[in-house]
Amino acid sequence: MRIQVIPTANHCKSVNFNNKTVVIIDVLRATSVMTTALYNGAKAVLPVISIEQALEEFKNYKPGEAMLCGERNAIRIEGFDLGNSPLEYKRQFIQDKVMILTTSNGTIALNAAIEAKELMLASFLNISHVALKLTKQSDDLIIVCSGTAGVFSMDDGMCAGMLISILSNKDEVIMDDLGLVLKSFYEENSQNIRSGLQNCNHLNYLIDNGFEKDIDFCLQIDAFDNVPHLSGKFIVNT
Ligand code: MLT
Repeated sequence: MRIQVIPTANHCKSVNFNNKTVVIIDVLRATSVMTTALYNGAKAVLPVISIEQALEEFKNYKPGEAMLCGERNAIRIEGFDLGNSPLEYKRQFIQDKVMILTTSNGTIALNAAIEAKELMLASFLNISHVALKLTKQSDDLIIVCSGTAGVFSMDDGMCAGMLISILSNKDEVIMDDLGLVLKSFYEENSQNIRSGLQNCNHLNYLIDNGFEKDIDFCLQIDAFDNVPHLSGKFIVNT
């Protein structure tokens, strides 16, 4: 398997995703949130780029069928039902509902790769299950680290490195230079991922804005067994 790693959502513009298998990673917090929402019984996630698009899509649903979700600068969008904290996505609020979600980077990366043959979401919460699914197919893989505001983010890089490390233990893997760096970064920190990420800018931004519990939640490894994937314009469970 050949693995190419894309460092930010912005870099997706120059990538041809057509007919490729793609994994999108936004550990803090978009792919962790979508994985949690679907694990907790949401019917589907509809990832959109803008607040306007979210409001437009929302009009297509009857009352109670969908929820408006998302953040800007990590804070819940005014008038929306939920923000981008996985702790908000509890079964009693979201079961059988469509989550219309817009985030600053994660849903942008996802929409950029919408032409992929197969598109899955990964985070620490479901990493081994994503790896297992990937080892069952022989396609080359593109891993997109969503990043933050156009720059690379270590949380996504650590998770990409872990995925590459797991895949390398099961299969012959040829990776690009970024893949090699991230695999080493993960392997050096595998015993304590949280301390390996202590200087991560977005992690510290979230702590400063009162989201420390989200970090503990999002850094749990294999808490869930679902692998969300793209089906039409929706993200659903396998
Ligand atoms: C994003 O999509 O950029 C993030 O998930 C931001 C956040 O932590 O809310």
